Amino acid sequence: MRYLLIDCDPGHDDAMAILTACAHPEELKILGITTVGGNQTLKRVTENAKNILRFLCADIPLASGQEGPLVRRLQAAPEAHGDSGMDGFDFGTGDYPLASEHAVTFLYEKIMACPEKVTIAALAPLTNLALLLKVFPEVKEKISCISMMGGGISHGNCTELTEFNIYVDPEAAQIVFTSGIPIVMAGLDVTEKAAVTAEEIESLKTKGRISRMAGELLTFYHESGKQFGFVDSPIHDLCAVAYLLEPGMFRGERWHVEVSTEDGPARGLTYADKRLAGNEQKNVLVLEDVDRDRFAGLFIEALERLDASACSR
Ligand code: RIB
Ligand code: CA
Repeated sequence: MRYLLIDCDPGHDDAMAILTACAHPEELKILGITTVGGNQTLKRVTENAKNILRFLCADIPLASGQEGPLVRRLQAAPEAHGDSGMDGFDFGTGDYPLASEHAVTFLYEKIMACPEKVTIAALAPLTNLALLLKVFPEVKEKISCISMMGGGISHGNCTELTEFNIYVDPEAAQIVFTSGIPIVMAGLDVTEKAAVTAEEIESLKTKGRISRMAGELLTFYHESGKQFGFVDSPIHDLCAVAYLLEPGMFRGERWHVEVSTEDGPARGLTYADKRLAGNEQKNVLVLEDVDRDRFAGLFIEALERLDASACSR
């Protein structure tokens, strides 16, 4: 069993990752969820996180964090996720409690109070986590692993070379990648293979209320993905959680990874470097392949588990 903290910017794929994590309480004890500006503004992504947790009747502490990157201006992604940041489903009205403290303080308190080491699923720009490591460096020895969605060693989706989560805040990413904490990096090399089909999305809409909600959200996301040339829909962030549940469905290799932070076409490039001899420097497991059918199966089964157990409104 892992004690888990999730940092996110919902975001359709963030939402699917949260749902899947919530479906496995015996393996993942979720200590809390934090939000950061990314796909949309902090206000909107936090509202989206509240909606998901309220829909699940969850009792998971939630805190909001940084509005935007450490030193740059936030560049959201409405073209991918819509103006709300998670278009496609009407969650109705209602609220969900938000912790009074900032996400960085919230993360620090949860980590230090936990009786064991904590795993972090990082599904967004790494601004909150970079600040956590800078302000409270003592947390490093209590973090067993950061399983993140971000980067890539073969191509980008924000520019030719760079992936959105890293591009938005490359300085934060460099702080996290060079922290020495073991990292599992689900970059675009693997996440663009981790896709669900239109038929799988349609089938969700014939099931229970949580599967139907996911199906409606993914119907929007599927249509939106067509503008980027996707036939099936890559559930990028879900890879970071799926790895924690079933690492065997992935294949990867250990590299030393750093981030290019200067302005220009390489801003946010995650470059892997095998020339560094010492294994201790290869602190990043870069995932490069996934059993797509098993990935989709884990996701669909998770929704079925939630439908069987969650509150019915
Ligand atoms: O590049 C994909 C990443 O950017 C995902 O985390 C998605 O939610 C967006 O934040
Ligand atoms: Ca995300």
